[in-house]
Amino acid sequence: MEVKAFFWKKTHLLLLDQRVLPHKEEWLVLEDHRQVAQAIKDMAVRGAPAIGCVAAYGFVLGVKKGYPPEEVYNTLKNTRPTAYNLFYALDRVTRALKEGADPEEEAVKIEEEDYKANRQMGEIGKDLVPDNARVLTICNTGALATAGWGTALGVIRSAHRAGKKVFVWVCETRPFLQGARLTAWELLKEGIPHSIITDSTAGFLMKKGMVDCVLVGADRITRRGDVANKIGTYTLSVLAKHHRIPFYVVAPTSTFDPHITDGDTIPIEERSQEEVKSFHGCRVAPDGSPALHWAFDVTPAENITAIITEKGVVKLQG
Ligand code: MRU
Repeated sequence: MEVKAFFWKKTHLLLLDQRVLPHKEEWLVLEDHRQVAQAIKDMAVRGAPAIGCVAAYGFVLGVKKGYPPEEVYNTLKNTRPTAYNLFYALDRVTRALKEGADPEEEAVKIEEEDYKANRQMGEIGKDLVPDNARVLTICNTGALATAGWGTALGVIRSAHRAGKKVFVWVCETRPFLQGARLTAWELLKEGIPHSIITDSTAGFLMKKGMVDCVLVGADRITRRGDVANKIGTYTLSVLAKHHRIPFYVVAPTSTFDPHITDGDTIPIEERSQEEVKSFHGCRVAPDGSPALHWAFDVTPAENITAIITEKGVVKLQG
């Protein structure tokens, strides 16, 4: 059975609570746009394409319940600022409503298109992964982060299913541990050999010649090819460039922001200090110390070998 992060049920949305994975598989029942917005903010659902799909369904629930569309749109829009898929999906359902079309049909289409895009990126991207490759990745870009299959993890999945031998280095991804909790869980289910590493292990692994390529997802891509993704991605890109290791970004075209050229203008989400100062609900830092918690960083196009999309590969380097 393929992993699914959410199921649309017409009167409600079923959402797999990613905060308690991998130890518990709990499903939330969301009945209006406010509950959906809260689930996005609290990261019960996360990953740019999944956020977009779920927000579109949240919009449908709010409108069906008779809330003013503008209020519904704003509540969902003001959840997480970096992932472009959120705005892309909300704009589509809003436009459908304005044009007299059915926003529910549009939301279903967004989900179906995302799944299809992931499968296409997998097909295209798997040819770039050499047999016996040791791939390094960050965060979770799998079925949990999308409508299914995954972006960077989808490419790994497709390579594995095509019979290639792939080994994955999984950056734990502090502080939410999307790597250690979610990517490891998906890889285990798929039977793909892997090892979790602390985020700071990546450089030394590269120096020792133990990484053949880096595959990451994206939250927003600008017109010149700068990429916002999970904090730590920029560091990996610098390390990969230094060690001459191919660095691939895998993202559907719904992640491309046509309004922004320069990566410096991408809004970067700042989350609570508490998430950095605590580990699994247990405070580990002194009360008096502040913490900086940027959830994303920006990798300049110059550090990226290529971007793999469902429409083909955009080569940026070499
Ligand atoms: O904070 P998150 O877990 O929502 O961040 C997710 C990422 O950074 C992913 O790499 C990105 O959304 C692409 S997921 C297909």
